[in-house]
Amino acid sequence: MADDKRDVRNPILFECAWEVANKVGGIYTVIKTKVPVTVSEFGDRYTLIGPLSYKTAPMEVEAEEPSDPHVAASLEAMRAKGVKALYGRWLIEGAPHVLLFDTGSQYHRLDEWKGDLWNLAGIPTPPNDHETNETIVFGYLVAWFLGEYVARQRHTAVVAHFHEWQAGIAIALCRKRHIDVTTVFTTHATLLGRYLCAGSVDFYNNLQYFDVDHEAGKRGIYHRYCIERSATHCADVFTTVSHITAYEAEHLLKRKPDGVLPNGLNVVKFQAMHEFQNLHSTAKTKINEFVRGHFYGHMDFDLDNTLYMFSAGRYEYRNKGLDMFIEALARLNYRLQSSNSSMTVVAFLITPAPTHSYTIDSLKGQAVTKQLKDTVTEIQNRIGARLFDIASRSNGDFSKLPSPDELLSEEDKVQLKRRIFALKRNSLPPVTTHNMADDANDPILNQIRRVKLFNSSNDRVKVVFHPDFLNSNNPVLGMDYEEFVRGCHLGVFPSYYEPWGYTPAECTVMGIPSVTTNLSGFGCFMQDMIERPEDEGCYIIDRRMKSPEDSVNQLADCIFSFSMKSRRQRINQRNRVERLSPLLDWKNLGIEYSKARQLALRRAYPDAFYPGADVEEEFDFASGPEKLAISTPASPRFRTTGFATPGDLGTLTEEMQSLSTSDYRGFSWPSQHEDEEDSYPF
Ligand code: UDP
Ligand code: G6P
Ligand code: GLC
Repeated sequence: MADDKRDVRNPILFECAWEVANKVGGIYTVIKTKVPVTVSEFGDRYTLIGPLSYKTAPMEVEAEEPSDPHVAASLEAMRAKGVKALYGRWLIEGAPHVLLFDTGSQYHRLDEWKGDLWNLAGIPTPPNDHETNETIVFGYLVAWFLGEYVARQRHTAVVAHFHEWQAGIAIALCRKRHIDVTTVFTTHATLLGRYLCAGSVDFYNNLQYFDVDHEAGKRGIYHRYCIERSATHCADVFTTVSHITAYEAEHLLKRKPDGVLPNGLNVVKFQAMHEFQNLHSTAKTKINEFVRGHFYGHMDFDLDNTLYMFSAGRYEYRNKGLDMFIEALARLNYRLQSSNSSMTVVAFLITPAPTHSYTIDSLKGQAVTKQLKDTVTEIQNRIGARLFDIASRSNGDFSKLPSPDELLSEEDKVQLKRRIFALKRNSLPPVTTHNMADDANDPILNQIRRVKLFNSSNDRVKVVFHPDFLNSNNPVLGMDYEEFVRGCHLGVFPSYYEPWGYTPAECTVMGIPSVTTNLSGFGCFMQDMIERPEDEGCYIIDRRMKSPEDSVNQLADCIFSFSMKSRRQRINQRNRVERLSPLLDWKNLGIEYSKARQLALRRAYPDAFYPGADVEEEFDFASGPEKLAISTPASPRFRTTGFATPGDLGTLTEEMQSLSTSDYRGFSWPSQHEDEEDSYPF
């Protein structure tokens, strides 16, 4: 129940997600990169809440006593009942307060809480769904904490912002228990959307026709769907990350979002253009080293005429468009071969799958090339020392200088031959770096087999499947993801289901061109913002209006013409891409989060805003996001119509609510019956 005495001017913010200090996918990136702008708005009034993983927490969090006495007292009360939690600073830029709950410490209450959930919200829960069990315990702990907190701290309004269904249970609990907080729920996908797309349905043309309960039941996710739907409907403000997902959420979760909060990044501007170009060059040298090792014995292609393309993300074969990428690579291979191109393309697929370990072959490849390199360095040093010795004792007599063939001693030659002999190999360079747990049924490997991209000498497209996320401590391809991206030439993300898609956005801010689709939130956002995104190195494949065959061809054309670019053209294009970064900067996009919070406060505490309350003037509702001033020449042409984001608080609500289902930004969606819309329980 809203307590009208709470001051809404400097609210407290709790932001809660399963990926707080716990990396799984893109939600971690949202939360982590947004911290600096949120901290600059809220300072110590901001705390993130997540699950406690004893494995990763020591690397992510530094323990600390809470500075807010009400947080301290609330935790004390919970600890007295056996709750284990870690409070401290998340060790990332902005160093926010973070509170991590150990779900294991309260697992014994799972059945009690499941019963309560059923009685309270009618949500059923099967016994053996570990992820749901975690979600329930976590949700009950968060709601418990919020209840303890607002019972003690009674003067300031509290905004509780939740991300994705795994953090959603607490929303329903806050509402049912009348905990005096205002809630925002941001979904980064819908469960049903992800499941339906992973199968082979024509998702986007049938969105309004799915029988949601039936579809969820068929896939064994009815209970999860109920959790997601209850969070959606119990939240004061419901938002999502893109217009395409807003449209999907409206149909599958049956609530029209109040607004779209596009995902930003923490953009680091370099003093001079050449700095990020240099980073590309040094990172590429590292990838070159890996390639020399992986393709040992078959290094019959020139690294100076080699392009690195890649796709990366969680292993969702169809949703992430990995099927389409491999097919397009096969067509690219054929076209490079038939045009006698001098270019080679090495395509990397970085996506975690169950594996046993690295293959002996890939470890050996790195080892033998390293030995060769070490031997060459030793020989080089010996030659240098000999030359120096002779030259310093020549006393002006040039005839004492050795002839070039005398420089290499017999011993050096033998050693070098040994190393070269070790590079001999009877098999082709493997397409994967790891021993797969289920090689025979792996969809990526099967597709590679089908299109026969086996890394043979006459293939102009080589494939490397690295079934794990990258890490600089890895013995093979030992680079961090960011460094790897910088070293590549093109990111390829032809997703079929992608509410936002951080991977191409990250490429953009690093100045690396990328391919995405008009079914990804990011792709639609860029299409909406820039007149000709393809001129800026942001290629968008049409997977909405084209058949799969035509989309594959469009992708193959795109990567083929990219491979035809000269080095100078590639350098220019990197410069152009990098200039788009401000579009994706949290400094510009963070304001949408502020608007969502303000809306939540207005809904929960209307009397604090009206009538005649001063606070209203202090909120700048009317200004839209700042337009970007990018100097000529060669400025990207930004669209002048429409806002980057919902624009102002008015648009966050009214604009969204007045959109007919067919005009979410950037699309013409299948039309639907007018009266159907009115039946949604807004
Ligand atoms: N990523 C990573 N290491 C890798 C590959 C990907 O950390 O080797 C990160 C990437 O930086 C991105 C996230 O994984 O931030 C994937 O987010 P995206 O929004 O593209 O997809 P999601 O996994 O959330 O569906
Ligand atoms: C950067 C560097 C240049 C280098 C180029 C290679 O721009 O500053 O010195 O020549 O990268 O570009 P490429 O597209 O061939 O990897
Ligand atoms: C989800 C989506 C992804 C999005 C991310 C962050 O995991 O799959 O497209 O970028 O959340 O919003």
